[in-house]
Amino acid sequence: MKLKKVVALTTAALAICAFALVGCSQGASSSSASSSAASEATTDEIVLVNDGKLTIAASLDFPPFENLEGEEAVGFEVDLMKAIAEQMGLEAEYLPSTKFDTIVPMISAGGKADVGASGFTITEDRKKEIDFTDVIMDSNQGIVVMKDSGYTSVDQLAGKKIGAQSGTTGYDWAVENIEGADVIPFDEMTAVFAALQAGQIDAIASDLPVVQYYVANAYTDMDIIAEIPTGEQYAIVVSQDNPALTAAINEAIAELKDNGTYNELYQKWFGVSAE
Ligand code: ARG
Repeated sequence: MKLKKVVALTTAALAICAFALVGCSQGASSSSASSSAASEATTDEIVLVNDGKLTIAASLDFPPFENLEGEEAVGFEVDLMKAIAEQMGLEAEYLPSTKFDTIVPMISAGGKADVGASGFTITEDRKKEIDFTDVIMDSNQGIVVMKDSGYTSVDQLAGKKIGAQSGTTGYDWAVENIEGADVIPFDEMTAVFAALQAGQIDAIASDLPVVQYYVANAYTDMDIIAEIPTGEQYAIVVSQDNPALTAAINEAIAELKDNGTYNELYQKWFGVSAE
């Protein structure tokens, strides 16, 4: 409610400024005063799709970060987003699972979700379209094959079919680093694993903690043959038009790291302490 008031007030202030601009077109001093008021308004207010809620878009196929348990979103990043929202006096609300490569355009366009929280690696390309919060997690890439395939190194995958989730850093890594590979995009991680098991592809390139989870818990007939130290860092995706939201989330992350909540959640999902 408090947020809405802020938004309403600044909208009114903007309307007055616009009126003042039209009314005093020859007055240089009054027009510059108006424009500084306008820029202040856009940086100070948190804009939310739904009052009192932090609306989150995620591809819920990325355990242990975000996954579906029945209808419910679960995972380390899900717990973290709930804690962040609570810290901000908001309720975390997940949209139905959203195709990964549509989330950045969705957040940039606005109107559907406030943030994308989906194991997003910070990249320069994405930064052109959206803002990232502070880092929430480090990650690397991993390469998965069927145990009985005989593949033991990335070199042997030259010219082979590599599956990856569409629009991910794993997809880009395979294109750039596996000689002559035919890199095939899939909408969902579950589909990439199903394709490997069905023999439609020779290997998978995706984030290491996630392939470790899938191989340990569901696909014990697969092996991780390479860990690639890409040094990726996950952060939350926010619209460039919503810098106050990015700032508030960063504050919440810092507080959760300070007060031990972040480490508690890390322990819960990874069984070890966050460094
Ligand atoms: N970290 C990778 C990237 O940012 C993969 C993220 C995929 N996330 C997901 N929820 N399926 O491109």
